[in-house]
Amino acid sequence: MNQWRAGLILAAAGVFLCGIAGCGRPAGDAASGADPIKIGEFASLTGEEATFGVSSHEGTLMAVEEINAAGGVLGRKLQLLTEDDQCKPSEAATVVNKLIARDNVVAVLGEVASTRTMAVTRICQDSKIPLVSPSSTNPDVTKTGDYIFRVCFIDPFQGTVMANFASMTLKIKRVAVLTDVKSDYSKGLAKFFKERFKALGGEIVTELDYNGSDKDFKAQLTTIKAANPEGVFVPGYYTACALICLQARQLGLSVPLFGGDGWESSKLTEIGGAAVEGNYFSTHYSSEAGSELSRRFVEHYQKRWNGQTPDALAACGYDSALVLADAIKRAGSTDGGKIRDALAATKNFPAVSGTITIDANRDASKAAVILQVKGGKFKYLGTVEP
Ligand code: PHE
Repeated sequence: MNQWRAGLILAAAGVFLCGIAGCGRPAGDAASGADPIKIGEFASLTGEEATFGVSSHEGTLMAVEEINAAGGVLGRKLQLLTEDDQCKPSEAATVVNKLIARDNVVAVLGEVASTRTMAVTRICQDSKIPLVSPSSTNPDVTKTGDYIFRVCFIDPFQGTVMANFASMTLKIKRVAVLTDVKSDYSKGLAKFFKERFKALGGEIVTELDYNGSDKDFKAQLTTIKAANPEGVFVPGYYTACALICLQARQLGLSVPLFGGDGWESSKLTEIGGAAVEGNYFSTHYSSEAGSELSRRFVEHYQKRWNGQTPDALAACGYDSALVLADAIKRAGSTDGGKIRDALAATKNFPAVSGTITIDANRDASKAAVILQVKGGKFKYLGTVEP
């Protein structure tokens, strides 16, 4: 049995125990002080980007468990209802519809990938159920309406960070870009990177694309090699990016490859091996840097999840649940509109991935970290403030 299933069963068992102890009331009775507050979560627990969903879920569930151990919110426990969207936008819509219509959740947490979050923003907005994405960075995600929030930075910032890094730290002037046209995240990040890189005097020597689950990138990489770049920007997700690194090296393309948060997965090095060594990416969090809060988070996480070190997905998932719980507390209510207002008023909230203030666009302005693949691990190089 994998961990997220175990978590779900534990959560279900908690509700059951509460029921036989006589503290439960019929579900949906919002007036009851003893009913758990239902929070929906949708995540890619299986499929091409499963490590995103699994990590994010582990962080989210741990936050809910800690909140409950400390007495819950408004005198009630939180109950996390988690659904797997299998990395499919259509499935994301199906499970979020179910969480809202059948399970009566008061808010929804998720997703990591921007395209899948964007598949449900309209549903949440129209149902007046607040949505908090832990780590979707495409700027359009929160534009659907005033019920849609995120606790992470957005890609105009991340693109700028990596363009500055290429230009000023790597000191390269000629870059090729390889974009996943199936991903809103990849297309957006490519665009913001190019704008900034060109503004810094850099040249985009060639631009090519691929389709999400492609496995063979030799044709694109052959064209890229012929354009003689000094680096290749690959704003995709880890499975494709690891294969791109691998095939680039096989073709004798030896310049640095670099990308954004989508690279972050233990699978990157598992798939890419020596070919990903030395390459770079930006992300939201590093367990090697950060506050006292972050240090405690790493310690708890390792205890809770078999010694694993939390990645940025876990940290952002954890923070999304904390920010939502804090908003429910300040709202003094589980009413969607009141939670919405409280989320919008989030200010200087001390979270693991940084201090969170929700801005007028319902985004969080936060620092990014730059990591380098070294010895099969992700080495922290530095922090870039917004
Ligand atoms: N930011 C990516 C997106 O919007 C998802 C992601 C977040 C991936 C954090 C890895 C780490 O699609």
